[in-house]
Amino acid sequence: MRLTTLAVLAAIASAAPLLPAAAQDGDADAGRRVFAQCRACHIIDATPRNSVGPNLYALWDRRAGMREGFRYSANMTALGAAGHVWNEANLRAYLTDPKAVAPQGSMAFAGIRNPEQMTNLIAFLRANTNPGPAPAPASN
Ligand code: HEC
Repeated sequence: MRLTTLAVLAAIASAAPLLPAAAQDGDADAGRRVFAQCRACHIIDATPRNSVGPNLYALWDRRAGMREGFRYSANMTALGAAGHVWNEANLRAYLTDPKAVAPQGSMAFAGIRNPEQMTNLIAFLRANTNPGPAPAPASN
């Protein structure tokens, strides 16, 4: 009985990579390698520096075009003003085809069409650009 249960569990575990839910998880380490093609223009760190593109520090859930000290295209500024936020769905759309989201935008990047690379890139961005929970309000 016990062995049967283990065999069933093992079968489920080995089938797991084929399930859609598992396929959406993404591998942040593999995503770091995908991000290599973004590094030509983007840095992610806590400094005030920008590059050819805006520093992507704390990007996750931030409105588009809000990075201080960076000159965005009018198109990107307008998206942010209209409430466009960098969540998973919006990042996927933009990074798959930047011109589809910001036709007059200034990001000279063709986009990533491989779904597995995109899922891994999203996992990397989530892990590296998410500022985490807001700090607790100061008590006074
Ligand atoms: C050739 C340079 C270049 C490459 C390569 C590039 N970007 Fe960009 N990126 C830019 C520029 C320039 C902007 C500003 C776009 C605008 O103002 O329209 C931008 C904007 C962005 C934004 C919006 C940021 C914000 O603050 O609103 C995100 C997100 C982004 N890029 C992610 C990526 C990722 C991820 C990659 C790699 C898959 C990548 N970019 C590749 C130049 C680049």
